[in-house]
Amino acid sequence: MENTIDALSRTEDVRRYWNERIHDLEMTEYSPGTAEFFRDLDDYRFDKLRYLPNVVDFNGYRGKKLLEVGCGIGTDLVRFARGGAVVTGIDLSETALGLAADNARHAGVEMKLELADGSAMPFEDRSFDVVYGHGVLQYAADPKKIVEECRRVVKPDGAAIFMVYNRLSWLNALSKLTRVELEHEDAPVLVKYSISEFRSMLEPFGEVRIVPERFPVASRLHGGWKGLLFNGVFVGSFNVLPRSWVRPLGWHLMAYCSP
Ligand SMILES: C[S@@+](CC[C@H](N)C(=O)[O-])C[C@H]1O[C@@H](n2cnc3c(N)ncnc32)[C@H](O)[C@@H]1O
Repeated sequence: MENTIDALSRTEDVRRYWNERIHDLEMTEYSPGTAEFFRDLDDYRFDKLRYLPNVVDFNGYRGKKLLEVGCGIGTDLVRFARGGAVVTGIDLSETALGLAADNARHAGVEMKLELADGSAMPFEDRSFDVVYGHGVLQYAADPKKIVEECRRVVKPDGAAIFMVYNRLSWLNALSKLTRVELEHEDAPVLVKYSISEFRSMLEPFGEVRIVPERFPVASRLHGGWKGLLFNGVFVGSFNVLPRSWVRPLGWHLMAYCSP
């Protein structure tokens, strides 16, 4: 009983935080909710996460029912919808969902959006072909429960895709070394995982493939001399190393799961 109350109160802290601190909001100067705002944040995201369209097939789910857990302002969901998927997004944050609705309107796509907790989803068993959660489990009060719920709502021949942060990665090491905090390090919950911890959290799934991604790219996140050093020196030197050597150090752990 105490554990349930703890989890509920942590979930409320998480909701409060993400209602006030929309992901990447500070990366744009455009007014929230405008077409320019969404275009700029999409540009920012897919410049920073250049790897993402190579490892997530946004156009590959035409006619499939896709659920995004923790969809935020719907940047990825818009891409799935443009690719023809029948999309549903849930999030704990009313503010994020309001913006996701504006995003869908500007993009001219249909999305079903619901205020819901990924650890207690209002969906029938086996109702989605694909479940997607990018950058969510690491910020959630009860990530294990979210994984169980995703396993419950995905169809037997469906798939789930998740991304969490890699504790044993170049970015975590750089942040500790330079004492520069990572984005949203002040969130009420932020857990970075090793590959084996992530694998054990995904245990409800029958098959799991984990691929480390996200290697350094020049970013508008860093300004001044730190920006010069990071964008000018670090990114260049890191990226001449053979990918097979540095692969385990990728900041994002992508997981591809089947029931
Ligand atoms: C870092 S943001 C990521 C948003 C989006 N997936 C993206 O990649 O831009 C984390 C999101 O997860 C949501 N979230 C955290 N815990 C959740 C939960 N238990 N159920 C649903 N959404 C949750 C937050 O409200 C927030 O919008």
